[in-house]
Amino acid sequence: MGRIRDLDPDLIFIGGDYADRGLRYVSPCLEALAELKPAMAVLGNHDVQTIAGVNPRQAVVEAMERLGIPLICNSSEVIEHGKWRIQLAGPADCRRDVAYLGHVARDPSADLLIILSHNPDFIPIGCTHLPFDLALCGHTHGGQITWFGRPITTHSIYRRELGRGLCFFRGKPVVVSSGVGTTILPLRFFAPPGIELIEL
Ligand SMILES: [Fe+2]
Repeated sequence: MGRIRDLDPDLIFIGGDYADRGLRYVSPCLEALAELKPAMAVLGNHDVQTIAGVNPRQAVVEAMERLGIPLICNSSEVIEHGKWRIQLAGPADCRRDVAYLGHVARDPSADLLIILSHNPDFIPIGCTHLPFDLALCGHTHGGQITWFGRPITTHSIYRRELGRGLCFFRGKPVVVSSGVGTTILPLRFFAPPGIELIEL
């Protein structure tokens, strides 16, 4: 959080997975993230999947509303920032939810169209009709536990093409952040956590 504050970004995009195996992390995670303004967020697979009879979706959405964290889910909106008009389109998670942007078209008044998708797999699946300029994704943890930097698995069906870092789909940049969390094992090996600073 301190590093993000030090960077002093104009806009902050938050990529999902605030919950993990229950509700324990939901409030503390979102209360911390609520300090980041102006921000826009999407949900991740851990926010909507039922584990041991608990589905955190409602708690996550209610906490975001209470804390004033803007959420986009299968929708699009135009943000004005300085001289820029940025259209931001955010699908639901494509792994554990119904992700859909088929009704979204590029706004001709927008200078940029950015896709904010938790899972990079949605880009080739659900964005072929959208002439986007940039896609921002996460989910893969950069492989989390790698063979000295070479991912063993990334939880992306496009492991080589959209596994981590700066990737491209049809010539357009897709930034797949390693994020700051872990899954299953609280361990990373040659897959350091990261936040991405993008200058337009
Ligand atoms: Fe995820």
